[in-house]
Amino acid sequence: MSGPPVPVGPERAVGFDPSTRWFQHAVFYEVLIRGFYDANNDGTGDLRGLREKLDYLQWLGIDCLWLLPFYPSPFRDGGYDISDFFNVHPDYGTLGDLVGLLEDAHRRGIRVIGDLVMNHTSDQHPWFIESRSSRTNPKADWYTWNDDDQRWPEARVVFTDVERSNWTWDDDRQQYYWHRFYSHQPDLNYENPEVADTMVDLVRFWLDLGFDGFRLDAVPYLYQRDGTAGEHLPETHSYIRRVRKQLEADYPGAILMAEANGWPADVADYFGDGDECHLCFHFPLMPRLFMAVRREQRYPITEILSQTPEIPDGCQWAIFLRNHDELTLEQVSDEERDYLFSEYAKDPRMKRHMGIGRRLAPLLDGDRRLAELLYALLLSLPGSPVIYYGDELLMGDNIYLGDRDSVRTPMQWSPDRNGGFSRADFAQLYLPPLMDPVYGYEAVNVEAQMRNPGSFLHWLRGMLVERRSLPVLGVGEFEVLACPNPSVLAFVRSGDVVDVPAPAGGPAPTGAPAPVAGPPPDGLGSWGSGGALTVPAEEGVAAEVSRPQAVLCVHNLSRFAQPAELLLARWAGCTPLEVLGRVPFPIIGEEPYTITLGPYGYLWFDLLEQPPVPGEVL
Ligand code: NOJ
Repeated sequence: MSGPPVPVGPERAVGFDPSTRWFQHAVFYEVLIRGFYDANNDGTGDLRGLREKLDYLQWLGIDCLWLLPFYPSPFRDGGYDISDFFNVHPDYGTLGDLVGLLEDAHRRGIRVIGDLVMNHTSDQHPWFIESRSSRTNPKADWYTWNDDDQRWPEARVVFTDVERSNWTWDDDRQQYYWHRFYSHQPDLNYENPEVADTMVDLVRFWLDLGFDGFRLDAVPYLYQRDGTAGEHLPETHSYIRRVRKQLEADYPGAILMAEANGWPADVADYFGDGDECHLCFHFPLMPRLFMAVRREQRYPITEILSQTPEIPDGCQWAIFLRNHDELTLEQVSDEERDYLFSEYAKDPRMKRHMGIGRRLAPLLDGDRRLAELLYALLLSLPGSPVIYYGDELLMGDNIYLGDRDSVRTPMQWSPDRNGGFSRADFAQLYLPPLMDPVYGYEAVNVEAQMRNPGSFLHWLRGMLVERRSLPVLGVGEFEVLACPNPSVLAFVRSGDVVDVPAPAGGPAPTGAPAPVAGPPPDGLGSWGSGGALTVPAEEGVAAEVSRPQAVLCVHNLSRFAQPAELLLARWAGCTPLEVLGRVPFPIIGEEPYTITLGPYGYLWFDLLEQPPVPGEVL
């Protein structure tokens, strides 16, 4: 392996978690192949490069990789403009390289999902080239054509800053074609059964190669109907159910994750009755996390969560702080948008479409305590966390690059040339790496942070270990606790769990997962810290061996120290065991329980019915 060494130490699971509900307690890692690691030194990251970095990802402790589009593409929309759905971009390697990556990842207990862009293609796709060539060719109706640009006026334009209409005139065909995004991305016409069938074939093609599922890009827009905004239509849901049926029948454990940027009540429809998507991104929560910490008030978070409906059994939200796009402000009020722009996009060059094109660390002015707080929320709020590559290092951005490239610069592996990303000449790189004194690769890189146990990278890795040992954070009930201090967000995650002793190998040192002899028992999660496996009880384990677990999470959204008085009488007699330090706190009584939190402080407590025995390793 090239690049900085990855310490060989106690590893996470060596087996592959076989539960079909693995995604409910998984941590996802979103990776841009182009920007991750360049194994052939041509200036662009590739599949072999990502494969070489699997040691690192295993060490970090993520459960599932999400590959951003890897298909042939003219790259006018970061690869979301696809010119061949059944292949790999030659810059990234071959189908064989992809299969090798999937096999290696699986060997390490890491699943892999791919981005599936069902809604549109590039205008360079042979289907579109044929479709536009005449009104009678075999692909003539694979896209949606019209003689004028007046149909479906209710449908909104997504990229209002660059597109005026969802219709674009085509000189060859002498008609307008329909597109929800860029005009170089014509939408496929799902009314045509050939299109609908081909996209199901596509799903099967990639699952047969070994993928564990898909992120469904722009899924609300598959169908249009007169008199509607063309989003969330019943036809779209019915098509997703068709895809899901294929998964259930032939690919158990494979998942669908919906990218549907909408209000929780609308988006929850993409779970169907548990027969559509397994996960949906919770878009509105994300800007509200940033709003809450700037206003130092929990209200934006609690308000959106109170509007979030219950979801069917076997489903899960996907939650995130940042991703490969701008910090979208589509799902906030005009007033909130103005506020967020004024707080987080002081320079107009930071704005992108209807959002802010910046990464996590610069958004937070580089404040590590604030970054820890936001990650603590991400790892404890209801949903499966999705981490964007580089954000585990608190990498920066480059707002002088166009469109979304500001947040897609090369991964920073070391202080060496090109940040250890590539040995190509600098001029050959797909984008320049960051070189500024604050976030540049000499200051922020994997090698340095791995060598420093106090680094953010190590902190986050430790948090992932802790989260794995507390499965209620993945699937437990969620209850916000009343607290007179509006800067404090306190909640309890609770549910029944089962402890399964680890096989040979014994307990691991604190903060490191146990080395284990084999995979966890069938249907169960990954081995946790301390050499034991703790799993949600509903996953096929006899009820009599289960025990209740309740985790109290308290977060201070203010930059100043804050007191929190919590009504915990329901847990009277329990001992709050602070999760990170294993420190027992005073037993809870009938009176309000007082906790003091430092600036941006957070504390997670396992509420133990029995006080720990002094000296016992917890
Ligand atoms: C959603 C993707 O996240 C974004 O990057 C892309 O521009 C649009 N879909 C259109 O493909």
